[in-house]
Amino acid sequence: DAEAGARVVADVFARTLREAAVAGEEGRGAVLGLATGSSPVPAYQELIRRHREEGLSFAGSRAFLLDEYVGLPAGHPQSYHRFIREQFTSHVDIDDAAVLSPDGAAADPRAEAAAYDMRIREAGGVDLQILGIGANGHIAFNEPSSSLASRTRVIGLTRRTVEDNARYFDSPQDVPVRALSQGLGTILEARRIVLTASGENKAEAVAQMLEGPISARWPATALQLHGDVTVVVDEAAASRLE
Ligand code: F6R
Repeated sequence: DAEAGARVVADVFARTLREAAVAGEEGRGAVLGLATGSSPVPAYQELIRRHREEGLSFAGSRAFLLDEYVGLPAGHPQSYHRFIREQFTSHVDIDDAAVLSPDGAAADPRAEAAAYDMRIREAGGVDLQILGIGANGHIAFNEPSSSLASRTRVIGLTRRTVEDNARYFDSPQDVPVRALSQGLGTILEARRIVLTASGENKAEAVAQMLEGPISARWPATALQLHGDVTVVVDEAAASRLE
């Protein structure tokens, strides 16, 4: 269930933070890759609880968001920049300036995408990336047909993703149709990945991700190429596994 899953995901975070602290004699904290959406929220709540009650510290950590809507400035209520602060980072001891996301309001989104990819590399790469998965198998906003080697770029969202996102906006016309998103190749460079999913509507995507052939048709199948992925699902999301 959601609570047990959140504890498993939080354990992976805690391990990564511990390892960075041990390795970090030169002052390098963990580099965290963060996702928005509903899937990681229980894990973020568990991490906030551990920070408050058990002293789990994120001091010195930096964070990179997976994606951002094109056209939404950082302070927009539906921006991912704001979401991650409200749901997670402002409640723990990560320096706000160390929480980076692609700039959805950049005058040149393509240049911003390339610069963001470079910023991740310059930070030494991501130690732990948390992911959700879309019902169509997308990760970040890498929709079906995304190259498995893709880098951070501007992506047109599918009709299904726009419809799935509409619940967060006042009217369907307000839902952004493009996003800046880390590519599958970018995500695969994270040293450790934890993906979490719940609910029957994710069951097909989870089954394809774990048991289907690697294919751009189901972008999450790219994770089969990675050597350190933990998948945390509830029973409904696991229901189509063989
Ligand atoms: C969010 C993201 C998306 C979501 C996915 C699942 O930063 O990149 O890929 O992880 O759409 O969304 P939820 O968790 O809301 O079902």
